[in-house]
Amino acid sequence: MDRIRVLGGRPLRGSIAISGAKNAALPLMIASLLSEETLVLDNVPRLADVAQLQHILGNHGVDIMVSGKRVGDNENAGQTLQLSAKNIVDTTAPYHLVSKMRASFWVIGPLVARMGEAKVSMPGGCAIGTRPVDFHLDALRALGAEIDIEQGYVLARAPRGLKGARITFPKVSVGATHTALMAASLAYGETLIENAACEPEVADVAACLEKMGAQIEGAGTATVRVQGAKKLRGARHAVLPDRIETGTYAIAVAMAGGDVVLAGARPELLQSALDILKQAGAEIGVTNEGIRVKRDGTGLAPIEVETAPFPGFPTDLQAQLMALMTRARGTSKIVETIFENRFMHVQELARLGARIHLNGDTATIEGVERLKGAPVMATDLRASVSLVIAGLASEGETMVHRVYHLDRGFERLEQKLAQCGAAIERVAG
Ligand code: UD1
Repeated sequence: MDRIRVLGGRPLRGSIAISGAKNAALPLMIASLLSEETLVLDNVPRLADVAQLQHILGNHGVDIMVSGKRVGDNENAGQTLQLSAKNIVDTTAPYHLVSKMRASFWVIGPLVARMGEAKVSMPGGCAIGTRPVDFHLDALRALGAEIDIEQGYVLARAPRGLKGARITFPKVSVGATHTALMAASLAYGETLIENAACEPEVADVAACLEKMGAQIEGAGTATVRVQGAKKLRGARHAVLPDRIETGTYAIAVAMAGGDVVLAGARPELLQSALDILKQAGAEIGVTNEGIRVKRDGTGLAPIEVETAPFPGFPTDLQAQLMALMTRARGTSKIVETIFENRFMHVQELARLGARIHLNGDTATIEGVERLKGAPVMATDLRASVSLVIAGLASEGETMVHRVYHLDRGFERLEQKLAQCGAAIERVAG
């Protein structure tokens, strides 16, 4: 298994190209199931999760062509995927595929909407607390699907098609909003989704569904109205930039010091995180190219923050921010409100010398003068990158084991950081 070696103490200087958002690319790829015509997606990041989903969609009969760079393209441009679900040959998503990636459960909405049936294994995915699918199933029931659970599989049936309805989520869920949006786009009549997730990736998927022929109002707000279409057509759509990758590198610069432009990043996608970084002492500017993050040798101020659905501080940046706060001058507090048990990075950060106290959903971080490199273990996607960030500001060598988690969600992480002067390399095997 690959490892990543980081030698701490070097500032970051230069430019990092931000990739397309994983959390938009995955549901966009799944949306291809809704149409007999080809969906072309540009700016798709090269990630293990994207490759895995290609495999899963291929199993349903989706024909996928991948093309890379064109002459004149920026060397870091994402890939273009052409997905054609003309012939869906199988409406079952088996356990051995779905268990590897939670988001693949989301095929259930498009499959039942278009084919009238779907049999999808209950998901696995990151080990960050219980992540049920009840909201997804309630949404599909509201649209008229019959749902049964048998031997670890969800069976959804709607032989006469789905019908528009009112769906009110008891709690904000990104995935369940995707399911409701995609299914409603092929349902008969109007669907009203209340307490919808406002995440930019939801709005991006809605924009693509509109190009495919659905009429959607209010995407990106808590109340979304969808007029379903009888058939959806093909379309071409570019994936929006990854705000979590952007925030991660912004935190890395705040940690290591330096001056980096995050090229292609859009500040409005992560304003709350940028505000927190400013409070902590980073300088944030917006340029033609993207976002510029600077920090000179001065110390970091402690912060208090709660994770929240968009536009709040994202849970997907919680581990990275905690790594940063280990070096603040004073005591910080981070409350995780979205996922229980999303603190697996704490004991690994402690191996580097961090002082963190956990009490339920609250982490209290007492800043320390120095961190010291050590071998650490990646446990999930965002936790692993927090260890790399901590390594950038630790004395000596930090070896991060089990980096396959990182490859699920960060494209060429070590190359992007090394280009800016970090001493970081992948050690194969
Ligand atoms: C998505 C993101 C993930 C991010 C999370 C929260 C993708 C591929 N993943 O995950 O990176 O951390 O949003 O921003 O986009 N819940 C239920 N029942 C359900 C569904 C969710 O109780 O049926 C709960 C979850 O346990 C959690 C909360 O709702 O406590 C939010 O989860 P949700 O927004 O659904 O997360 P995902 O869509 O899985």
